[in-house]
Amino acid sequence: MDVHTLSRKLLRWYDRHGRDLPWRRTSDPYRILVSEIMLQQTQVDRVVLFYGRWLKRFPDWRALARATNAQVIRVWAGLGYNRRALALRDIARRMTREGVPTTVEGWRSLKGIGAYTAAAVSAFAQGARVLPIDTNIRRVLGRLWFGIPYPDAKGDGRLQKRTNDLLPQHGRFAEIPQALFDLATDVCKKIPQCAHCPMRGDCKAAEKFLSGRVRIPRQMVKRPAERRHAGKPFPNRIYRGRILKLVRERGRVKWSEVGPTVDEAYNPDIDRLWMEGMITQLIHEHFLSTHQQVISLQGVSQKRVKHVKGDKTA
Ligand code: ADE
Repeated sequence: MDVHTLSRKLLRWYDRHGRDLPWRRTSDPYRILVSEIMLQQTQVDRVVLFYGRWLKRFPDWRALARATNAQVIRVWAGLGYNRRALALRDIARRMTREGVPTTVEGWRSLKGIGAYTAAAVSAFAQGARVLPIDTNIRRVLGRLWFGIPYPDAKGDGRLQKRTNDLLPQHGRFAEIPQALFDLATDVCKKIPQCAHCPMRGDCKAAEKFLSGRVRIPRQMVKRPAERRHAGKPFPNRIYRGRILKLVRERGRVKWSEVGPTVDEAYNPDIDRLWMEGMITQLIHEHFLSTHQQVISLQGVSQKRVKHVKGDKTA
């Protein structure tokens, strides 16, 4: 299929179904980089909530460069993986000293920026005709061109070589990756909806999926949903376990001490209801009990706890 037909089909779909996301309305490298770093390992809907707040507090490289670790982490709280925020601040410091890179290689040389992010910033902020390949784009193109239902990163070189088959020489080529993100999210999902796909007739994997010949990898079949507070690296059961361990070890713990002790990124403004909900649930389930703002193990009296605590053999 020639490049014009493929990209035209994709863009026609994108015009109707594409998402209106805040970072798609800017070409400021700072704003684009912030969005891409936030989008690493965090869902789009959640990033949208945090993006505006971050930009209000740190509107440009200079404002971010001045921020301390504590300030950066406080504003990042809720997105998880604080190291990303600190790397972003360090990049901002370097940008204010040295200026912004103008090539993919220049971006790539910065600590914390990998091949995907370097290509994304170059494409979305600086008009480079490059294809950023993330797991979404890899999935769509690996299926479309090579008929691989679940492609892995080993094939990225092959995809990269076919960039010319996808990106028009001029015009809207920076929108092609954006269209692919949205197609991957809405249609070409892990378990794809090929019947609704605009690329179905051109796709080497569609027939396999539609005829039921693809075995869905076991790790992709949904397990019973594990509850997870947005932005946290672990599901709730991990924090529940830590709460129980804390109370078991200390005997008596104040409600307000639990959050900061079991979650290193704990931010009371965002996380208090979630943490108190888990404690309340543990009380309902008779693991814990509470009295005057203090939590202890259910069925273990305060006296007994003190005794157990002092008894090294317990
Ligand atoms: N994932 C990574 N970058 C993205 C973007 N610009 N839009 C939507 N999802 C993305």
